Amino acid sequence: MYEVPPQGGRRAVVTGASGGLGLEVARRLAGAGAEVVLAVRSPERGERAAALIRGAHPEARLEVRALDLADLASVARFAGGLLDEGRPLHLLANNAGVMRPRRRTETVDGLELQFATNVAGHYALTARLVPLLTGAGGARVGWMSSSAAHVGRLDLDDLQATRRYRPFRAYAQSKLADLVLALWLAARAGAAGVDLASLAAHPGYVRTGLFSAGSSVGRPRPRRSLLEARWLPHQEVDWGAEPLLVALTSPEAGNGAYYGPAGPWGLVGPATLVRPPRRATSEGLGERLAEALGALTGVELAL
Ligand SMILES: NC(=O)c1ccc[n+]([C@@H]2O[C@H](COP(=O)([O-])OP(=O)(O)OC[C@H]3O[C@@H](n4cnc5c(N)ncnc54)[C@H](OP(=O)(O)O)[C@@H]3O)[C@@H](O)[C@H]2O)c1
Repeated sequence: MYEVPPQGGRRAVVTGASGGLGLEVARRLAGAGAEVVLAVRSPERGERAAALIRGAHPEARLEVRALDLADLASVARFAGGLLDEGRPLHLLANNAGVMRPRRRTETVDGLELQFATNVAGHYALTARLVPLLTGAGGARVGWMSSSAAHVGRLDLDDLQATRRYRPFRAYAQSKLADLVLALWLAARAGAAGVDLASLAAHPGYVRTGLFSAGSSVGRPRPRRSLLEARWLPHQEVDWGAEPLLVALTSPEAGNGAYYGPAGPWGLVGPATLVRPPRRATSEGLGERLAEALGALTGVELAL
């Protein structure tokens, strides 16, 4: 199992730290001595997560802060709070996500929910936090993608799936967009000579709340998803969190790297470097996506 190197003196923000992979990422970073901001949309679930981490690491330095990625005003408030304090930020884990709401759902900003949460919210968050990241010294942004990205397609003419909404297709597009953004930011930081690394990861297959949370959006009771296939190889959150933890903390992980499980079909196993699919690396795609996100969110990611 990957052991996070000592993180004393480093500050981290983990989105979606209330459960699943984000909670495990936050727990391992805190256990290694990082000061961790649990960025969560429900303060109650955030406090519960913090209590769980403190149960394992009583000395953990944790803070629970409200962040709803599906609401750009909430993203601005969250980032504004950190910017006002002006303390350096060393690690940003863009982890939170929602998968496959059955019906197309729009956020308060008029964006499709998966695109808003998984992509636009994280883009705006990263863009707003750039001053704290670039001033930190050796800062890293880790983007949680998915093997779904390998079958995704970016439709830059209809990112909001207004013409036709297909739940998995919109999810795969959002996870491909996360990967494209990770690689685009890496290239931008490298070209600008800025001290900031951007890396991507995917966890393989971990049976978290992800599968029922998305399918339950707009429903009174939780609903099981067909994607919770018991016959598929799967792993627990401790292994599933590893690719993102390696991307965020391994001294060997370089700007632009992408990590995922090494085992069968990339679903399970220890973290290893994986090759991004060609659809994530096509010339100019990152630039066009970033431009579209700048227009949609009103925030430019400037380095
Ligand atoms: N599990 C897998 O097999 C798998 C595979 C590939 C990729 N992934 C990716 O891994 C990441 C973590 O997923 P998971 O498996 O840990 O799922 P999870 O257990 O459902 O956790 C998702 C997290 O995202 C948070 N979240 C959802 N919408 C949010 C919003 N609008 N604002 C802020 N936070 C929000 C949830 O908060 P609440 O507690 O408030 O709901 C929760 O903490 C996601 O990006 C997912 O796409 C997972």
